[in-house]
Amino acid sequence: MSYSDEEFFQPGLDFDSEKFVVVDFDFHRNPPASLERIYREIPAESSIGTWQKVHTMTDFILKNLSARTVYAKKIDADFAQIKVAYPITLFEPNNLPQMFSLFAGNVYGMNTVSYLRITDVQIPDELVNSYPGPEFGVQGIYDVLGLKKGPILGSIIKPKLGSPPDIHANTAYSTWKGGITWIKDDEPMTNQDFCPFEDRITKVLEYADQIKSEQGRQVIYACNITGPIDKMLKRAEFVVDHGGKCLMMDVITVGWAGVQFIREQGFNLPIHAHRAMHGAITKHRKHGIHMRVIAKAFRLAGVDGIHTGTIYGKMGYGELKADEEEVYGSNEALLSDQFGNLKPVMPIASGGVGVKNIGKIINALKPHVVITAGGGVHGHPNGSEAGATSMVQAMEAAFEDVVEADDLLNWAKENNKTELHHALDTVAAGYSS
Ligand code: 3PG
Ligand code: 3PG
Ligand code: MG
Repeated sequence: MSYSDEEFFQPGLDFDSEKFVVVDFDFHRNPPASLERIYREIPAESSIGTWQKVHTMTDFILKNLSARTVYAKKIDADFAQIKVAYPITLFEPNNLPQMFSLFAGNVYGMNTVSYLRITDVQIPDELVNSYPGPEFGVQGIYDVLGLKKGPILGSIIKPKLGSPPDIHANTAYSTWKGGITWIKDDEPMTNQDFCPFEDRITKVLEYADQIKSEQGRQVIYACNITGPIDKMLKRAEFVVDHGGKCLMMDVITVGWAGVQFIREQGFNLPIHAHRAMHGAITKHRKHGIHMRVIAKAFRLAGVDGIHTGTIYGKMGYGELKADEEEVYGSNEALLSDQFGNLKPVMPIASGGVGVKNIGKIINALKPHVVITAGGGVHGHPNGSEAGATSMVQAMEAAFEDVVEADDLLNWAKENNKTELHHALDTVAAGYSS
């Protein structure tokens, strides 16, 4: 079976969608390779073929294990969109590394394509249900917090790095005191000399208990356990032993295997998935992997919440339509009830959130969303507690459909929301590119 073989290109093929994984590819050719050659090369190289016929090929393999391009649309002389159907037998159940090595592996390196982007994947229930999926999911997170629904307000301790454990913990306490519910470590904060993991976790969790006794509400501290597997295991066990309520991992840098490993230890704690480095994979509009595919993968692996963008913040394409398409597309993948028996995953919106844009974010993404703000809280002129309160007040305003900056200022004055009023007067009012 070489790439040229007709077997790999069967547009309109009638196949059982319950027995095939279907991957949507956008690709740009590398001349002189033709689009038609690539229609065959992508399914061949990502299933049973290579560039040369091999004597070891059998009719059984050909018939039962070949992927096939079942749809092709030529956009222009160099750009086409295809759908490739992969027999489900090619996929080892509950194995994300193998899944992506198969349809997102060698094909990205082929000489014949200049750009290649996976824009979606349809996975049959039989394969979806071979994965654990979220232990808590959206409803489980509400249950842990004793809430009926979202949005849930959160914050990231800032500066991103550098504060010693007592300052880190005190900042968390002030932020919770101001009314924020969900606190996370920043993505590169793990176990540095300036803020040792065990000291930080212990001190922050003591304050979480204090808030519970002072305010009678459960708050969350997403403890960043990111690291090599053995260290993550020890850190997760430490969090459990100290009454922690949530684990955080940088899931792209930790990788498929790391996330699957931690999920399957059964720590019985929600997993907060930060997606740092995703931009290297998702951001280019012609090359890489759409965030909705990454979102589906981590839903399979079993995270309970994952960052998918804000539409109005500091990270994204910086183009409203494109950002809406990426965020809505990713959140739909997380929340859809058509994904085997797996629970829905909570979208997390973060990056450049402040009082001037949180209302728009709430209106775009409510009700199931955790919205976290770092600079937008800790940049408040009166400190983190006031910054947190200003976010709560901005959410109250959004519930009354007051989201534009001028209206917010009038609303804050009329309703004596001094923390919001002060926030609107300073830079801590929401990132704008
Ligand atoms: C690889 O996985 O390295 C390639 O499949 C090499 O296979 P080839 O020698 O047939 O190109
Ligand atoms: C995050 O980890 O979500 C970002 O650090 C957000 O920080 P910012 O709110 O200051 O942009
Ligand atoms: Mg961060």
